[in-house]
Amino acid sequence: MGVRGLLIFAALFTVSSSQFVPPYTEDCRSNMYPPKGPTFRAAVKWYTVDLDLPPSKRWTALITDKKAELVAMIQAIVDLADAFVPSGRLVELVDRTLPLMAETLPKPFGEEIKGIAATSGVPLGEVVLFNIFYEVFTVCTSVVAEDRNGHLIHGRNLDFGLFLGWDVKNKSWIISEKLKPLVVNLEFKRDNQTVFKSTNFAGYVGMLTGIKPHKFTLTMNERFSLDGGYIGILEWILGSRDGMWMSFLTRSVLENANSYQEAKARLSLTKLLAPAYFILGGNQTGQGAIITRSRTLSLDILELDLKLGRWYVLETNYDHWKEPFFLDDRRTPAMTCMNKTTQQSISVMTVYDMLSTKPILNKLTTYTTLMQVSEGKLESYIRDCPDPCMPW
Ligand SMILES: *[C@@H]1O[C@H](CO)[C@@H](O)[C@H](O)[C@H]1NC(C)=O
Ligand SMILES: *[C@@H]1O[C@H](CO)[C@@H](O)[C@H](O)[C@H]1NC(C)=O
Ligand SMILES: *[C@@H]1O[C@H](CO)[C@@H](O)[C@H](O)[C@H]1NC(C)=O
Ligand SMILES: *[C@@H]1O[C@H](CO)[C@@H](O)[C@H](O)[C@H]1NC(C)=O
Repeated sequence: MGVRGLLIFAALFTVSSSQFVPPYTEDCRSNMYPPKGPTFRAAVKWYTVDLDLPPSKRWTALITDKKAELVAMIQAIVDLADAFVPSGRLVELVDRTLPLMAETLPKPFGEEIKGIAATSGVPLGEVVLFNIFYEVFTVCTSVVAEDRNGHLIHGRNLDFGLFLGWDVKNKSWIISEKLKPLVVNLEFKRDNQTVFKSTNFAGYVGMLTGIKPHKFTLTMNERFSLDGGYIGILEWILGSRDGMWMSFLTRSVLENANSYQEAKARLSLTKLLAPAYFILGGNQTGQGAIITRSRTLSLDILELDLKLGRWYVLETNYDHWKEPFFLDDRRTPAMTCMNKTTQQSISVMTVYDMLSTKPILNKLTTYTTLMQVSEGKLESYIRDCPDPCMPW
């Protein structure tokens, strides 16, 4: 069952005290795009991050704008920690020890995080915590599909907050709800030119979702394993620092790699602190891959192969050659909808339909992002999952 199964069981106990948890599956949705109606929130705002500024200044405009939301989200984490270990000891530990960690983070991330702490007034240790947090609590769905004209569409749901405080009254995850107002689209510029774009949470400096226009698209999904993030982070604290933080690698690849091939090589070969799935799309037919990583090795690369009928690759949080955990199977419904759609009809609209079908859309889903490499386009939507809806 593994670590992830245990976490799901823990979540099941948390949630089932207030709500019966059947598998809320439904028929594949259609005509969901463009998003509208009661669950449509205001458009996700765009911000520019200027890479020519010193790292400590790059996030000032964004954080000044999102300060209240960032403080509220971090406060919710602090409240949870206090509920978990009363007396405030846990938060005290975070405030005292994690600032030291900011000093050890690779350039420019430590400086950027310090800049965010200074602008928001949130204690440095708590901003560091937020930046290493996703390690444990993300669940996601990513897909790269090729349409009949050879154009690639990359879509993803970012689900975050598993087991982080179930709000009995609202039937929602406290942290997931607090993250939604922090969802932003970013345009990273150098010499006044776009380098890449991403969907992010304000205050978070790594990348989970991004596009290098006309070159490649990239998302990262969490991969659970016993030799997982905890051990890697512990080693980092103890001074063994040859592994790379996963979302710092994705950011560095978006910033520096210039082709699908180069991105694929770096994502496959760089030593990591924790296992991960990288979902990479290129700009030409056949260029789409799921890279399954252990900390040291690329275990498997599954690529598009039209001759074999593989016109899309899809990843949730389980190795594609294994069965997903029975209480957390988003892969089968997602593939069912993709197969029903067929390559003839795949488009940004039908990918959005698939990502709007429960339980691929669930109570942890914070945003959906759709990327079209040939157009250089990224669009994202904050998501709410109307009841009845699976908690994950
Ligand atoms: C729960 O719902 C109420 C009313 O809709 C809202 O004011 C409140 O902020 C929600 N709580 C959380 C934690 O999202
Ligand atoms: C940057 O580019 C924008 C539009 O592309 C232009 O309006 C602006 O003047 C440029 N700024 C500088 C400093 O070159
Ligand atoms: C695809 O990417 C390669 C490598 O960066 C680039 O040379 C090529 O021009 C791109 N093709 C298109 C159609 O944008
Ligand atoms: C979807 O189609 C692929 C390719 O034909 C097949 O391998 C897979 O089992 C199908 N999955 C589902 C859930 O229908």
